[in-house]
Amino acid sequence: MKKYWIPELAEGVSSVGARDPNRRLFDSLIPLPQGTTYNCYLIRGSEATALIDTVNPGFDKELLARVRSTGAGEVDYVVMNHAEPDHAGAISEVMRIYPEARLITSKQGAALAKRYFNVPDERIVVVSDGERLALGGKTLQFLETPMLHWPETIMTYLIEDRILFSCDFFGTHTASGFYASQVPEVISFAQRYFGEIMMPFRSAGANALKKLESLEITMIAPSHGPVYPEPEVILEPYRRWTSAETAKKVLIVYISMWGTTAHMAEYLTDRLLSHGIEVAIHELTSADLGDIARDLVDSRAIVLGSPTVLRGMHPLAAYAANLVVALRPPAEYAAFIGSYGWSGGALKQVEEILSPSGVEIVGAVDISGPATRQALEEIEALADRLTERL
Ligand code: FEO
Repeated sequence: MKKYWIPELAEGVSSVGARDPNRRLFDSLIPLPQGTTYNCYLIRGSEATALIDTVNPGFDKELLARVRSTGAGEVDYVVMNHAEPDHAGAISEVMRIYPEARLITSKQGAALAKRYFNVPDERIVVVSDGERLALGGKTLQFLETPMLHWPETIMTYLIEDRILFSCDFFGTHTASGFYASQVPEVISFAQRYFGEIMMPFRSAGANALKKLESLEITMIAPSHGPVYPEPEVILEPYRRWTSAETAKKVLIVYISMWGTTAHMAEYLTDRLLSHGIEVAIHELTSADLGDIARDLVDSRAIVLGSPTVLRGMHPLAAYAANLVVALRPPAEYAAFIGSYGWSGGALKQVEEILSPSGVEIVGAVDISGPATRQALEEIEALADRLTERL
């Protein structure tokens, strides 16, 4: 039998999840350049054992082997903090192997556990906010934290060891390292994850952080990526990100067909930099959506650049604009740059797409043909206007 390293977060608290370094896409949408992990945790009390979350489909055998190698006998409880299959995908198998186990979840989680994982009513225990479960020397406390990022999400706090099992919240998609100190770029990756998953639910995140203030937390163990033995390392940026705090930063996302929009994007970048503004620039044929999501988290303005194709935006630019609206970033200002040959249309479309976001469009430079001296002067004026707003 394969031998696994089973990290212990505290006595009787084992990490039994799986690494997936080869995974390159999540939700058929989000690139995972460093893979990910599906963390789950086994808590052994003197009277009962609880498994907090499970793993992605396909990793159930590995999870069960890890659980067995801790020397634990029965699993009495499976806590489903979240029903998305990357954490709940092995619930059916775990409940089959441990026929006496009961599933702990929220009221909304119970409906999902029945529908997705065929867990019968009599094996489900619905918990409400603050409810506790004694395992013998280890006590779990459940916290209702809805919409992080599904309606049923809860977190689990282990009172004696002061460990918070936060599931997706505080997560990071990387298969590297185990503790945060072992991943040098951890906060950049956490920001990327926040932008992709949590940014649309910022206010729910802020509510959760407020709730966590009443707890003494000495370790945060999320269900993706590294564990934080120093919680402030991740709490501090989360306070900023959930409060929609932005930097004097402009995100420029563009695509170009014959070089004009690229020329304008690069010129605008130079002008903004010369004014002391931070700029993140992404070209859409090669950009990683996760990097764009990361920069949306703290950019105060967004500039979309696109030529007109068939009377509208380039399809990749339209996709990016729709994604911006869906992710609900905290940016207050937007602008457009683009070019066309015989017919405009991209500007009108970007205004339509961005309109529900409430962002203020502070300017647009939409030109026919290559960027002339006059067009570049318009870009300079746009840079001045953005700088003034920022
Ligand atoms: Fe990591 Fe919402 O699943």
